[in-house]
Amino acid sequence: MAKSKTQFSCSSCNAQFSKWSGRCENCGEWNTIVEEAPFGAGPAGSSLGAVKGRRIELSDLRTEEAPPPRTLSGVKELDRVLGGGLVPASAILVGGDPGIGKSTLLLQAAARFARQGVKTIYVSGEEASAQVRMRAQRLGLTESPVLLAADTNLRDILTTLEAEKPKLAIIDSIQTMWSDSVASAPGSVSQVRAAAHELTTFAKRKGMAIVLVGHVTKDGQIAGPRVVEHMVDTVLYFEGERGHQFRILRAVKNRFGPADEIGVFEMTGRGLAEVANPSALFLADRGAPTPGSVVFAGIEGTRPVLIELQALVAPSPHSQSRRTVVGWDSGRLAMILAVLESRCGIPFAGLDVYLNVAGGMKISEPAADLAVACALISAREDSALPAETVVFGEISLSGALRSVSQTENRLKEAQKLGFTSAIAPKGGKSAKVEGINLNRIGDLASFVGEVFGA
Ligand code: TYD
Ligand code: MG
Repeated sequence: MAKSKTQFSCSSCNAQFSKWSGRCENCGEWNTIVEEAPFGAGPAGSSLGAVKGRRIELSDLRTEEAPPPRTLSGVKELDRVLGGGLVPASAILVGGDPGIGKSTLLLQAAARFARQGVKTIYVSGEEASAQVRMRAQRLGLTESPVLLAADTNLRDILTTLEAEKPKLAIIDSIQTMWSDSVASAPGSVSQVRAAAHELTTFAKRKGMAIVLVGHVTKDGQIAGPRVVEHMVDTVLYFEGERGHQFRILRAVKNRFGPADEIGVFEMTGRGLAEVANPSALFLADRGAPTPGSVVFAGIEGTRPVLIELQALVAPSPHSQSRRTVVGWDSGRLAMILAVLESRCGIPFAGLDVYLNVAGGMKISEPAADLAVACALISAREDSALPAETVVFGEISLSGALRSVSQTENRLKEAQKLGFTSAIAPKGGKSAKVEGINLNRIGDLASFVGEVFGA
């Protein structure tokens, strides 16, 4: 029998190693490598010669089968992120920082689905049932037909699920669950992986949708949600800044819908409220035109969203100037600064640069390049852009502006919110939207000349 070997894995990204080290070679995190209980070897001679093994020709798969019926929760922001409602027998992971509002969101979702006739059970491993009930009271959900269970033992939970046969089970959180067949402590990589595996396979077999809640952890003592990402169909992250009211539910993986879709919520005294028009919310705090402030017409998932970018440029008192970014990629900022310097002759050496995406939003679209460049120049030149202008476009290393997708949708959103002009790259499909004066520019140097007269 093969000797079972000790394994090490990263509790942040789930990479596997044969040796321990202080830093994960895969994701670069420190102190996240942990030892795992060894896998037991299977029964002798089990590797080949199994009698059960089946194959099926791809062409035999019937294509005309109807897609599975989905259930809408009635919360549009949630249904959209799920790709158009809850898919039966699907496994969903909801990750996020502790205290961001995951339990609140899922208790509200559970109540909504239960009211739609989906038999729902909410299993809390973190709070006693009485506490969950108190939260439900605060959220005004006490009348909802949701079943509650407070448990952490996987065997007990599976027995409950087997007996109750719900159509939706919510496990809050996967890190508190433990299986007595795994030797290590609850929250360890082996426990989290084993619990997630058992729960998802059980749910699939029984045709039940399952939601696993996972805390994002920084110190690596407890396995993060990344460990289970590959086992589920849909991965949602609940994001937001603690100081800000609103929260963003983002699909980072979805087998049943577009990834990158977002749902926007506001945390209120009575739970999470949907935000149907996020652009209006993101722009709510904008005052008179200020240097460094630019509105970016972005696309998040399938939806256009207007977001304010703010830049501040100040002489640096230090020998090494600062580059601080919140809500955008710092590597991308370095690239834009380099392009501005070498293609447009606008140096930032000796200047501290701060870039902030207003409201705690995170942007990953390259289409934000031009808006960022615009905010940087505006801050540096102390020259404000007219308030009713939106900007979007990708910048290449040559300084050329590249067209981006969905120009028309971006312009329509801008028009809806009272903007009257837009600056975008030349090329791509032409788009015309009534009430928006579209200025198409070919490269960054002409942009600087036209917009800032430099
Ligand atoms: P919670 O859902 O417990 O977070 P998580 O499960 O992600 O750890 O939310 C905790 C925070 O939300 C807490 O700081 C209080 C706040 N909150 C409200 O502001 N309003 C509410 O109605 C509720 C239930 C919570
Ligand atoms: Mg919680």
